[in-house]
Amino acid sequence: MDFARPHLLAIEGLHPPEIHALLDLAESYALLNRSGKTQRDILRGRTLINLFFEDSTRTRTSFELAGKRLGADVINMSVSTSSVNKGETLLDTASTLNAMHCDLLVVRHSQSGAPNLLAQKVDAAVINAGDGTHEHPTQALLDALTIRRHKGRLEGLTVAICGDVLHSRVARSNIYLLASLGSQVRLIGPPTLIPGAADRLGVEVFHDMDRGLDGADVVMMLRLQRERMKSGLVPSEREYFRFFGLNEARLAKAKPDAIIMHPGPMNRGVEIESRVADDPVRSVIKEQVEMGVAVRMAVLDALARQRSRLPSSRPV
Ligand code: NCD
Repeated sequence: MDFARPHLLAIEGLHPPEIHALLDLAESYALLNRSGKTQRDILRGRTLINLFFEDSTRTRTSFELAGKRLGADVINMSVSTSSVNKGETLLDTASTLNAMHCDLLVVRHSQSGAPNLLAQKVDAAVINAGDGTHEHPTQALLDALTIRRHKGRLEGLTVAICGDVLHSRVARSNIYLLASLGSQVRLIGPPTLIPGAADRLGVEVFHDMDRGLDGADVVMMLRLQRERMKSGLVPSEREYFRFFGLNEARLAKAKPDAIIMHPGPMNRGVEIESRVADDPVRSVIKEQVEMGVAVRMAVLDALARQRSRLPSSRPV
């Protein structure tokens, strides 16, 4: 397979064949998961540690399930129960993990760059599960897989990413991935929530929702990340919804077969109306969660193979 890296820290810098290789492997895991079969031998005897310094429901659970489906021993370390609260530094944590002979380390941290630092200090393969406002590579991969399953391709699609782009590691990873595979990316949001350097990322910026959604194939909504805002960047949630919330009237500007995405957790009534989020035909939000498990299985498999230089073995 074309993915031969020791860690997965970011999408930026990955080459299109590497991304395609992970998506193809994830697709085979998606089919395997739907068939109800498991593949418990691939990570048998391996230890996967989920090290989460920030809250998470779906990402942590998804990595846990992915590891268990491949037969790994999975340990969840959350910050509230670890010694980090007692003043242990990130590097002390790294040497503790080395002593435990952990093979795969999944890290979420509020500081951008924390997984990169750990990757230099631990023997394990490190997977970035979201670092500050930097990147969230497995989220971008699962989004790409979901889009590819619905549209058959990524090339030439118009993808509108709407809302709090400034604080979103999901948006950043998606921009790198989609641009590298040939999608046209549009960012839509108030000027206060769009990064200043957005034009250098090769995207189009819109501050008007109706114009930005015009003709879009994919509408990806982002949560208003109030916990990351240093000051009030938006007036009120009601006002925000009035201008940037996704409702049926706004969605009508996109292509009739446009799909609706959201990485979760959703703020219903703030960035997205429930009727749209729950649209049985156009919303693919639940499928994103399903693809999350398949993508994480693919990433764990690819990194474990890399470590042991096992001959390639596709699961189906
Ligand atoms: C995102 C995250 O944590 O970056 N959620 C996720 O991983 N599914 C987005 C968010 O918190 O809004």
